[in-house]
Amino acid sequence: MALDQSSIPNNVDLSSDRRLQRALEQWQPNFLSWWNDVGPAGFQAHEIWLRTAISVEAGGWAHFDYVRMPDYRWGIFLEPQTEGKKIGFGDVQGEPVWDEVPGEHRNALRRIIVTQADTEPASVEQQSLLGKCAPSLYDLRNLFQVNVEEGRHLWAMVYLLHRHFGRDGREEADELLQRRSGSSDKPRILNAFNEPIADWLSFFMFTMFSDRDGKYQLAALAESGFDPLARTTRFMLTEEAHHLFVGETGVDRVIQRTAQLMAEGKEPREHGAIPLEIVQKYINHWFSLALDLFGGEISSNAADFFAAGLKGRFREEGYEEHKGIGTYRMQTPSNGKLIEEEVPLRNAMNEVLRDEYIKDCQRAVDRWNKSIAKAGLSGVTMKLPHRRFHRGVGPFSTVHASPDGDMLSAEEFASKQSSWLPTPADFAYVGSLMVPVYEPGKMASWVASPAKGIDGLPLDYAYVRAPQA
Ligand SMILES: [Fe+2]
Ligand SMILES: [Fe+2]
Repeated sequence: MALDQSSIPNNVDLSSDRRLQRALEQWQPNFLSWWNDVGPAGFQAHEIWLRTAISVEAGGWAHFDYVRMPDYRWGIFLEPQTEGKKIGFGDVQGEPVWDEVPGEHRNALRRIIVTQADTEPASVEQQSLLGKCAPSLYDLRNLFQVNVEEGRHLWAMVYLLHRHFGRDGREEADELLQRRSGSSDKPRILNAFNEPIADWLSFFMFTMFSDRDGKYQLAALAESGFDPLARTTRFMLTEEAHHLFVGETGVDRVIQRTAQLMAEGKEPREHGAIPLEIVQKYINHWFSLALDLFGGEISSNAADFFAAGLKGRFREEGYEEHKGIGTYRMQTPSNGKLIEEEVPLRNAMNEVLRDEYIKDCQRAVDRWNKSIAKAGLSGVTMKLPHRRFHRGVGPFSTVHASPDGDMLSAEEFASKQSSWLPTPADFAYVGSLMVPVYEPGKMASWVASPAKGIDGLPLDYAYVRAPQA
């Protein structure tokens, strides 16, 4: 479908639905004032080399140009409809997908959409001060690219709420602009999205681990029987890939820099780099927070969502059977020990998705370890902590485990905690390195240069430039 030239770029023929268009046009100024209040601080007038989605066709969606962020064309883009599409899993497998919300699933779908939607503005709020201490213009631009796309993801979800959920949907859309990350009064829904992202190592960890949870949630929703949700999340995934790239390569560059110094026999702290023990503690912290985002190990909600065709598995088509019949073996805590449990597969769907996520994270850690070896440093590797470590959700949230997964008493855990998780001193040290580097091509002391620039441009390109007179 051709691009609709209304004030809201879209491929959903918005101008044919005047009521909806007006409702969204009323929401738009509220979105913009939210963006100006709590979005990227200090750079709203700068020109940023950004890509903008202008259509969903291959090659068409990524258009690069200098843009002031408040002028970014946040649009509504759904992947095209497929004729005769069928639901791929659950009790409704083989039935036609729904273009409208079935009455019996209205509450569940609204909750799923609002929970996803809430993470998008939350992350922009968490990251709003990072521009002031960016390690390079390249990184500064990537931060803003991530931020504007999270803004677009909010638009994508708000469109679904306005279009398919009537008055409740409009109220939910308003509340998305009222909650605030870290607020005691109106916090964001999920805990990891209330954690401050005060330094760039946290930002890289967040885009590596928390955004990657987003990838798996979106992929599970891309299977949904509610087709507008499936079509919009599919398109969001194409943008999400860049966020994951920023995180994975960001952590890699931090590790590269430190490993190079160590291989030369130098002390990282003396050269303004981040010791690998601190990087490891950040991994432990952010990975365990992200694991919680998948929900409890045994979940009747997850079973219901799967049965009803609302939320599938990661790449559902790759599975042999799609009803979720069978069982899943997992270990759960009981009186300080681990017991084996055989759980109905549908009730273990959160764990099934978490398995895919952990594999993907391990692949990234393997790449980081290759960078360490390549720097000529031996005997040091980075590790993912065990899924039982430092959990805040599910059965393991009430017990303690080491990064290797061994069960511990509360006292044992407390005595080791400072060697496993970042301490105030670790955060303070990383914080002390956060000085801005705005000279094109230059990098802060704690991070290696990326392998290449953006969109074929050189590394010393002015990816962010001061307002032009
Ligand atoms: Fe997002
Ligand atoms: Fe993202």
